[in-house]
Amino acid sequence: MYKFFIRKFSSLANQAQSKSFKGELAVITGGTRGIGYSIAQKFAQNGARCVLIGRNKETIEKARNYLDKNFEVDNNHIGYECDLRIPAEIEKLVINISKLQNVDYLINAAGVSYDSLIVKLKEKEVDDIIQTNLLGTIYMCSHISKQMIKVRKGCIINISSVAGLYGNSGQSIYSASKAGVIGFSKSLAKEISRKNIRVNVIAPGFIETDMTSTMSESAKESYKDKILMQRFGKPEEVAEAALYLAKAEYVTGQTLVVDGGLALS
Ligand SMILES: NC(=O)c1ccc[n+]([C@@H]2O[C@H](COP(=O)([O-])OP(=O)(O)OC[C@H]3O[C@@H](n4cnc5c(N)ncnc54)[C@H](OP(=O)(O)O)[C@@H]3O)[C@@H](O)[C@H]2O)c1
Repeated sequence: MYKFFIRKFSSLANQAQSKSFKGELAVITGGTRGIGYSIAQKFAQNGARCVLIGRNKETIEKARNYLDKNFEVDNNHIGYECDLRIPAEIEKLVINISKLQNVDYLINAAGVSYDSLIVKLKEKEVDDIIQTNLLGTIYMCSHISKQMIKVRKGCIINISSVAGLYGNSGQSIYSASKAGVIGFSKSLAKEISRKNIRVNVIAPGFIETDMTSTMSESAKESYKDKILMQRFGKPEEVAEAALYLAKAEYVTGQTLVVDGGLALS
């Protein structure tokens, strides 16, 4: 009998803990695949209603359906098509989001990478990387933070990369975009933390997603050798870091490296 009550009590306590984002809205760019999708699942599991943003209609719908089936919320999870390279599309997206409810969490995970030496990189690819990774993040933060400032509550997490901290051969523009995200986020934290909006960055190392799936096996093996933990990370492991930052009420302006020790080697 006594054991039954203990079990019942701890299960209720776990439920309360796992629903800590109940009633809150999390907007996740790139929330349809890879790291962003894992973050969306983690936040939905914790009770948040999620807005997933990507360009591919089918992928958005598939991801949104999965959340609806597995993580019930008062109103359904939402998916929006938006090409973050186009500021006018971001403006439309933000208007749609503002009709839902206040945004509690903004996670900017959308990103692209074309791995190539600078001499071989095409102008269109340079533009794509900067427009998606850096400008897309900047415009989303700029629009959504205005709404967060009004209610004096919010949490922004921008996904950068260890390439933005240390550089990587074949990723000069990507590194520039990700270093830009870090500099931008630190400055934004200085501007809006006093208004109770925290801004943090996650800098992942190599993570198993579509983005790294095109790497040759030999390249993967040689990188693994440089990672202290001798393996690539999983998207769920980055999602854990995002969950931590979402809950860490006294952490702002920081860059959390999630790379299995790659940067140390
Ligand atoms: N995987 C890694 O090893 C790694 C390491 C360090 C940092 N990162 C960063 O982590 C983030 C997520 O990467 P990932 O590996 O999860 O990539 P991924 O699996 O390729 O997913 C990228 C996501 O971004 C969306 N996206 C791309 N361009 C977009 C655009 N113009 N407008 C709207 N959405 C767009 C994609 O949706 P659509 O295709 O539908 O547009 C997709 O949801 C990126 O910022 C990446 O730079 C990844």
